[in-house]
Amino acid sequence: MHIDIITLFPDMFTEIFAQSILHRAQTKGLFSVEVHNLRDYSTNKNRRVDDYPYGGGAGMVIQIEPVDNCIKHLSSIRKYDEIIYTAPDGQPLTQSLCNELSLKENICILCGHYKGIDERIREHLITREISIGDYVLSGGELAAAVIADSVVRLLPGVLNDETSALTDSFQQELVSPPVYTRPADYNGWKVPEILLNGNDKLIDAWRFEQALERTRQRRPELMDEK
Ligand code: ADE
Repeated sequence: MHIDIITLFPDMFTEIFAQSILHRAQTKGLFSVEVHNLRDYSTNKNRRVDDYPYGGGAGMVIQIEPVDNCIKHLSSIRKYDEIIYTAPDGQPLTQSLCNELSLKENICILCGHYKGIDERIREHLITREISIGDYVLSGGELAAAVIADSVVRLLPGVLNDETSALTDSFQQELVSPPVYTRPADYNGWKVPEILLNGNDKLIDAWRFEQALERTRQRRPELMDEK
């Protein structure tokens, strides 16, 4: 999978893609990413990419021309399966949407801007709009990073334990069961006995029961979906 990200703040992504699983996915050749500065596609001598809103009002609006220039240029290199815009009024990012996106070859993500972008970008250049939750971020960069992380970890071979993405919270409309590691007894706080007895069947059944119980208690609405 290849992801292109278009942003006014490219430096925000440097460490995110240089660490942990996203980094390992790149060194394994399973994923590549390029971050593009929208200002590089401005035709303005001061590299401006925004202007005042028609009709007045506070804040500046991202202009269509640099975005169109950038997407045209990138589309001449790759054919995109999706050109995503991050926005609080987009489609909610869910595990099932992550699964769907993980099957794509090439994705472009245009990071949203706090005062918005010219609506014609959304109408004509974007194929999907995604929100990462019902709250407002200062910009779309963190949302783009969340989308990339949640999708790339699902690519075959990215996680060491092939099954671990399948047992994630939400993957079966359930949250994950609790996990423990050594020591078995920390100042009297004990690990559940069943995990120590080595009976895989009983342990699987216990974990499933715990996942059900946790989902019932913490996120009951997940069990109603589907
Ligand atoms: N930009 C600002 N808030 C956002 C959100 N919740 N999701 C995606 N993009 C955003």
